[in-house]
Amino acid sequence: MSTLIAIREGSLNGNGGDCSPAKLKASNRGRLAVLHRRLLLLVGGAMFNLMLLFFILGSLYTLSSRISPLMGWHPDYPSFVVSGNRSGYTVLINTWKRYSLLKQSVAHYSSCRGVDAVHVVWSETHPPSHQLRECLANVVRQNSRADEKPHLRFNLNQEDNLNNRFKPIVDLRTDAIFSVDDDVIVPCDTLDFAFAVWKTAPSTMVGFVPRMHWLDNKKDGEVHYSYGGWWSVWWTGTYSMVLSKAAFFHNKYLEMYTNQTPSSVHHYVTRERNCEDIAMSFVVANATGAPPVWVKGKIYEIGSSGISSLSEHDYKRNKCLNDFASLFGTMPLISSNAKAVNAMAEWLW
Ligand SMILES: *[C@@H]1O[C@H](CO)[C@@H](O)[C@H](O)[C@H]1NC(C)=O
Ligand SMILES: *[C@@H]1O[C@H](CO)[C@@H](O)[C@H](O)[C@H]1NC(C)=O
Repeated sequence: MSTLIAIREGSLNGNGGDCSPAKLKASNRGRLAVLHRRLLLLVGGAMFNLMLLFFILGSLYTLSSRISPLMGWHPDYPSFVVSGNRSGYTVLINTWKRYSLLKQSVAHYSSCRGVDAVHVVWSETHPPSHQLRECLANVVRQNSRADEKPHLRFNLNQEDNLNNRFKPIVDLRTDAIFSVDDDVIVPCDTLDFAFAVWKTAPSTMVGFVPRMHWLDNKKDGEVHYSYGGWWSVWWTGTYSMVLSKAAFFHNKYLEMYTNQTPSSVHHYVTRERNCEDIAMSFVVANATGAPPVWVKGKIYEIGSSGISSLSEHDYKRNKCLNDFASLFGTMPLISSNAKAVNAMAEWLW
């Protein structure tokens, strides 16, 4: 399995490689198609009735959007990016030596309406090649649907360090940052909805990947926390973090993370090569005294890794939670059961 993946990655990975946006799009679509086929196989015919129900609800929904204008209900949507007036958001992509994934995600995010700029956090000894820069600039030009194309910027770092992804950005034009991994694709309408949620609470982290810190008293009455992954959040509907692999936050937190957080936390992240996302959740929670907001929405992971050595991963995440709690001198995370959903897509009141 892993060799197969490695080979595919390798053949895609050339710095510069094939840069045609059509191909990039096609390969995205190809993956979705495969996923879809697998899903159908899995689900089989048993779900047919349910599908039919969804289809009917979907049709009703489509119909409703036709009917509302007849009733005289015209929403007044503000435009996202009025030229010269920056009210959109900046997409901050963290990447490391995965150029084909980077191209795909730059292509995708530059096609979203609300995007003012795409910043790539670069953490390699050598700066991006001229070829790659040209390629990504083309990708932005060809995919953007806005009159004014999003800015494309590289935030250059020579050292491979996870703290890089939260370094303050000099030529930033928006308050809102959408922080994302290079292999995570959030559909544009989902992203726009999450941005709308963020605007109602701009000091809060708003994201798609909720996690929980569970209180665990078993160690001789001493407080101990364990990291709750997807499964426990799904089961309990309780979370206290949203991971920065797909989350909005205010740009002031870049400054706060980098310049106002104890350097012991940065050293920890550097040494362990992990948990910068948990650290950011601590920073925001400590500053706001409030929980983050989980937004309902499907996101797609186009990379191939992430499944390996799950138990090792859990062990590290548990350790990060407890070590950060002692470095901060407190546990700032606050849990929540709220989930933001798009009311236009919900039928039950
Ligand atoms: C848009 O620009 C106007 C005038 O320059 C300013 O008053 C207003 O606050 C801006 N709106 C936003 C959302 O930035
Ligand atoms: C947490 O917040 C308090 C008050 O806002 C601040 O004084 C303190 O330095 C913060 N702690 C950390 C570890 O950033």
